[in-house]
Amino acid sequence: MEPNFVSLIDLPAIRDKRGNLSFIEERNHLPFAIKRVYWIYDVPGGEIRGGHAYKQNEEFIIALSGSFDVVISDGEQSKVYHLNRSYKGVYIPKMYWRELENFSTNSVAFIASSTLYDEADYIRDYDEYKRMVE
Ligand code: TYD
Repeated sequence: MEPNFVSLIDLPAIRDKRGNLSFIEERNHLPFAIKRVYWIYDVPGGEIRGGHAYKQNEEFIIALSGSFDVVISDGEQSKVYHLNRSYKGVYIPKMYWRELENFSTNSVAFIASSTLYDEADYIRDYDEYKRMVE
């Protein structure tokens, strides 16, 4: 796994007639050690989350329930990742701009992060981000 590239990661899925089970093990499934997890839920229709990059933080995003799009840009090109499976997520290295949009009703975005929350790590201004990646 190349930590400098955005990539889709398939997690194990233990299929069972009682219901399926997936898991993440530090270092085994993600290219970083998890310091924090958070989740986004009850997103009203049409709302957009994200809208920033991180200087250091790396993230892995899964649609634990429902679906949404993760639009990821390197400042020049952007790509849309449609997430709708509980066992498949997108890895985003540091210094990529991301937006989460098109949330379905009752969707839940689960995010594993490589750092603790630190507002100073955010780049929230797209023009500033563009200047930094040039
Ligand atoms: P933000 O990261 O901007 O949300 P989004 O998921 O849309 O990118 O965070 C929204 C608010 O929540 C902001 O005030 C910071 C706070 N927050 C924390 O306190 N801890 C966290 O781990 C996260 C992700 C956000």
